[in-house]
Formats: sequence, structure tokens, C-alpha cells
Amino acid sequence: MPSVFIKTYGCQMNERDSEAVAAQLVAKGYSLAKSEAAADVVLLNTCSVRDFAEQKAINKMQNIVGTARSEKRDQITGFMGCMAQSRGQGLIDLLPDVDLVLGTQKFHRAAEYLDELLTGKRAKIVDVATEARSEATIREHLLNGSAKTSVSAFVSIMQGCNQHCTFCIVPATRGEERGRTIPDIVAEARELAARGVREITLLGQIVTSYGRRSTNNLNPLAPQGTNGEGARGRGRLEDVLLTPAFSAFGEEREKKSAFVQLLEAVHGIEGLERIRFTSPHPKGYGDDLVDAYARLPKLCECAHLPLQSGSDRILKLMHRGYTREKFLTIIQKLRRARPGIGITTDIIVGFPGETEEDFEQTLSLCREAEFDNAYIFKYSSRRDTPAATMPDQVPQATREERNQRLLELVNEIAGRKYDAFIGRRVQILVEGPSRKNAARYTGRTRCNKIVLFDGGERHRGQLLDVKIECTGSFTLYGDPAVVNL
Ligand code: 5AD
Repeated sequence: MPSVFIKTYGCQMNERDSEAVAAQLVAKGYSLAKSEAAADVVLLNTCSVRDFAEQKAINKMQNIVGTARSEKRDQITGFMGCMAQSRGQGLIDLLPDVDLVLGTQKFHRAAEYLDELLTGKRAKIVDVATEARSEATIREHLLNGSAKTSVSAFVSIMQGCNQHCTFCIVPATRGEERGRTIPDIVAEARELAARGVREITLLGQIVTSYGRRSTNNLNPLAPQGTNGEGARGRGRLEDVLLTPAFSAFGEEREKKSAFVQLLEAVHGIEGLERIRFTSPHPKGYGDDLVDAYARLPKLCECAHLPLQSGSDRILKLMHRGYTREKFLTIIQKLRRARPGIGITTDIIVGFPGETEEDFEQTLSLCREAEFDNAYIFKYSSRRDTPAATMPDQVPQATREERNQRLLELVNEIAGRKYDAFIGRRVQILVEGPSRKNAARYTGRTRCNKIVLFDGGERHRGQLLDVKIECTGSFTLYGDPAVVNL
């Protein structure tokens, strides 16, 4: 059977999609190759969020097909994921050696299409069509394929985003919001727990919108006549739990969003110790979710709240739907509900029209919010987004300069926050050997900080208390011996 190498760009959703494709191919008899040069099939799972991410994948593919050609190796190559979805046939026009372009609603067809390409039944395949219920197809796991995933696993709960932020290409690459049902998600999480997984991260492009839209009217798990409007009208609890298409009713009755109900359902799974989720929208942090942090002990005290900008004027242009004050209030509430909660964010610098004053608003918000970490992105113009044609595009040099200034501030604040851990005892979930130094083991605190320590295989999967001795760049160094004698 052939071997496959999958390289992933971008977010955790992409990592999860790649893992599901790998698991699908392994189930068909494929082996996983260690490098692209040794593989019969090479797939690049791509990201479109910024131009830089697209260029990286295109350059990589150019190298792969160039090397295969010069070495006269027969290799099937393909793009999948977000850039495949948004560029489609254009990728084969650009790189005619590429055989497969697989969109974001077609991951489950990978094995079938590769079979057709490998047997010569078809020469090229481009499939970027929409497919009903594709959100429920990302479910296979490769638990033994990676040290990390056997302790901690990702579970995809929904696909797509209807928020339409003016800078963002995701609605075009991932489509409309569609959610899996709670029983479907719980069944997958329960199976993972039975196989030894102790931590799960619920994934989606905008998880806090889970269940807000009734796009899943063909829900196979819903009892007959209870999907969509029917579930709302009848209002039985089992209907609510069986379909994500109920939020209006659900909120009225229980003042709890569908997402919080999902968290509760997953929280009940025996054997699971920790629950995380990403990525949410700040608008989704209603009191029901803040309250969930206070009530649900397995819900880890960390939150990723993408800020994007600290200026109300820019937030409006971005179509974000909150103000800086609202954002800061959410942080206050979360810190009250769970003192010590780790809070991280995403920020874009150089959005069209961003003045020095707007940027200073972002700096001042960061000083106030004291993020544990912030991912900073230089604005990248994306095709067919409203921001691409907005006036006053910010010069590249200014984007660079703001990126640098913000990075310095974020690092200074984060450095202080990490140093405050020295001497403290924290509980980590041990994932396995560190990727950079196999003599060290790695785990995460509940607030999502990486801890390295001198460990061994016996520690894998354990919840371990360690004392923090010193810090590195966004890393804590711990000693288990001090507290586990
Ligand atoms: N330019 C720069 N950064 C972007 N992001 C999304 N779209 C763009 C863009 N056009 C960033 C946002 C988002 C993160 C995943 O990527 O900060 O939260």
C-alpha cells in the first residue's frame, strides 16, 4: 500500500482535519511517511488567513513537485483545506504537476480520490463543492500516531462562520456555520475518553456560535419531525439536545446557550479530566459562559479572546460587534469567576484606516488587559473581503513598525506573568517527550502554559504536580520531584 505525508499550515482546525484525513488513509492501509521525499502521496493542508501562509504552501509545493520531477519519482501531490477551497482549479493552473485539490467540505473523500489518481482512473481531481452534513465527517482519530493526541485530542464541533469580519476570508473558505449534534459530539468524546484521552479541545471557527443557526435541518440523529423549527416548537429537552437548531428556544427556557449546554454534556463524561475550546468570539462570552467557568471544574481556566483592535473606530470597521469597554468587562468577569485564568488574544495591526491614535488604543488595552500571550498579525489584504477595498490602506513599513512595538509590549507583560509562576506549584497533564529535546517531557498547566521537566514514559498521561523553578520564552521549567516524593 502507498505511503502518505501530510503537512499542515495554520490553525488547530487544520491540524484536526489533517489528523482525520491521516486516520482515514491509515484505515485504508496507507502508511504514514516520515518525510515528503519518502512518500507516494504528499498532501499540503493549507491556510488562507494571510497571504504569507498561502505563499508558504505554494513555495513548498513548487519544491516538492520540482524535486520529484528531477529525481524522476512518481508522486501524487495535492492541496487540501482553505486555500484549496478558495483557489480551486487555479492552483492546478499555477502548478500543473499538482494532481488533487480538495476543498474544506471534502476531507472524507480523500481516500476515494487518491485511489482514483493512484490507479490512473483519473488524471486530475478538483472538488471544492459544498456538501450537506460534511461538518459531521471529521471524526476519525489517529490516537497512536502522535504522542500528544493520545493524552489530549481535538474534537470538531462545527464548521464555518457567519460573522463576516471585514478582514477575514474564512466565511469564503469554510462556508456557513453548521454544527454537529450534541449526542454525536458526546459519543466521539466518550470514545476518546475510553481510549485513554484525558483532555479534549472542542474546535470550530466560531465555537461560541454553536447551535445558533438552524442550518442542520437534515440532522440524522434528530427524531422525526423534530429538526429545525419543529424542535423549537415542541420544546422537549431531548429535542434540544438532539439538534443544534434550537438556540432561541433554549436561551429562553434555560438562559443557557447551546454551547454551554454542549460544555455541560461533555463535562459529564467519565475519564475526561480537562475541557478546552477554540476559537470563540468575544461576543459569545455571555454570563452563561462566564458562569460555566465558575461551575464546571473540568473546564480549564484559560480563554482565548481574539481582540483584533483596541480602538472602537477600528472594531466597527472590522465588524466585530463589541467595544473595547465591553471586551475589558468580559475579561474582568472571567477573572472574577476564575482567578488566575490564562487569557490570550489575536490582534491585527495596520488594518485599513488605522491611525497612530487607533494603534495607541490597542497598546493601552494590552496594558490594561495584561494578556498571557497575544498573537499579532500584520493586516493582510484578502481577496473579496470588504477591507481589501477600504480607503487608507496602511503602508507596509507602518504595519511592520506597529507589529514590532506591540510585540515588545506583549512580550514584556507576558514575561512578567510567566515569572510570577516561579516557586509556585501547578498541576500539569503530561503529553510526552518534548519535540525539541527528547530528554525532557512536556505538559500543560490548566491555564495552558507549557511546562518542561525531566521526566520519562511513566509520566505520560499523568496529572502531575510540579514546582516551577524558572522560565524561558513562553515556557515554564518545573521539578516534579519536589512535590511528588
Ligand atoms: N490579515 C491579518 N490577520 C488576519 N487574521 C484573520 N484575517 C486576517 C487578515 N486578513 C487573524 C485574526 C484572527 C487570526 C486567526 O488571524 O487575528 O483572529
